[in-house]
Amino acid sequence: MTPLKKALAETASAMDEILDSLNPESQDAEARLIEAMRYSSLDGGKRLRPFLVVQSAKLFNVSERSALRVAAAIEMIHCYSLIHDDLPAMDDDDLRRGRPSNHKKFDEATAILAGDALLTQAFEILAHEDTHDDPAVRCQLVSALAQAAGRHGMVGGQMIDLVSEDHELSMDEITRLQRLKTGCLFGFACEAGAILGKAPLQVKQALHNYAHDFGLAFQISDDLLDVVGDEKEVGKTLGKDAEAGKATFVSLMGLDRARSQAQMLADQACDHVSIFKEKADLLQDLARYVVERSA
Ligand code: IPE
Ligand code: IPE
Ligand code: MG
Ligand code: MG
Ligand code: MG
Repeated sequence: MTPLKKALAETASAMDEILDSLNPESQDAEARLIEAMRYSSLDGGKRLRPFLVVQSAKLFNVSERSALRVAAAIEMIHCYSLIHDDLPAMDDDDLRRGRPSNHKKFDEATAILAGDALLTQAFEILAHEDTHDDPAVRCQLVSALAQAAGRHGMVGGQMIDLVSEDHELSMDEITRLQRLKTGCLFGFACEAGAILGKAPLQVKQALHNYAHDFGLAFQISDDLLDVVGDEKEVGKTLGKDAEAGKATFVSLMGLDRARSQAQMLADQACDHVSIFKEKADLLQDLARYVVERSA
């Protein structure tokens, strides 16, 4: 197993453990909600955002407990975004992470509520004193995640994604759409370590630049997999972007140019974190992996 695969597996198992402990099974009247939250947050996904939090925190010797709590918070936001993204009113997807999507397993109302509750809980976790001793650091985390997830971040990007169906977008417009929809959460994941470690601005900027290029490379490869992936491996219904008339790098540039653009962005991402020397080896490995992945 490569060092990257081993580290990703470690983060994934740490995530299952902490997410399980933050949301234990319940016998209360709202148990169905907890079950739906657990269904979409446990045992699945590549856990790339948590991995980036853990790796960026390692650069600044942040405690593991702090890093894992922030990692859990961003994964909750991500899982909520996937539950809502799959709803009939949005992408109308029945398959997620190789299983029925949340509204198929439960029902639409439960899926909406499970998403809402994961979203809210993420901020509860960040604000809790177990996340960091310094309240100013906790405030910064709350503010940064709110910005990354909200109207000028992931949710804003989802809006552009929907209103752009069947519209030709320019390269700049697609780049902005992808940056908001996907890049902003990756940006938070990478900067979280620097916030927790009270790192200087210049260092934060290097991580910000890495996240920017990484996020775009990642979304291009997601769009490529939608066209050329293997449904079993990817665990999602493929061909949905073209069917919905989504504007993606692949629809604009074609497969080959999209592939080389993703590769170029991954190389750039690696350059941005070279200032951390061998401490950034896994961040560089991850950037190379996302453009070669098959899942
Ligand atoms: C899928 O993200 C949604 C996008 C932002 C394109 P991931 O590919 O990281 O999904 P999981 O968490 O591994 O399932
Ligand atoms: C969704 O992008 C990104 C989110 C913010 C959830 P996609 O719609 O391309 O994600 P998939 O392909 O369904 O995972
Ligand atoms: Mg979508
Ligand atoms: Mg989708
Ligand atoms: Mg997609």
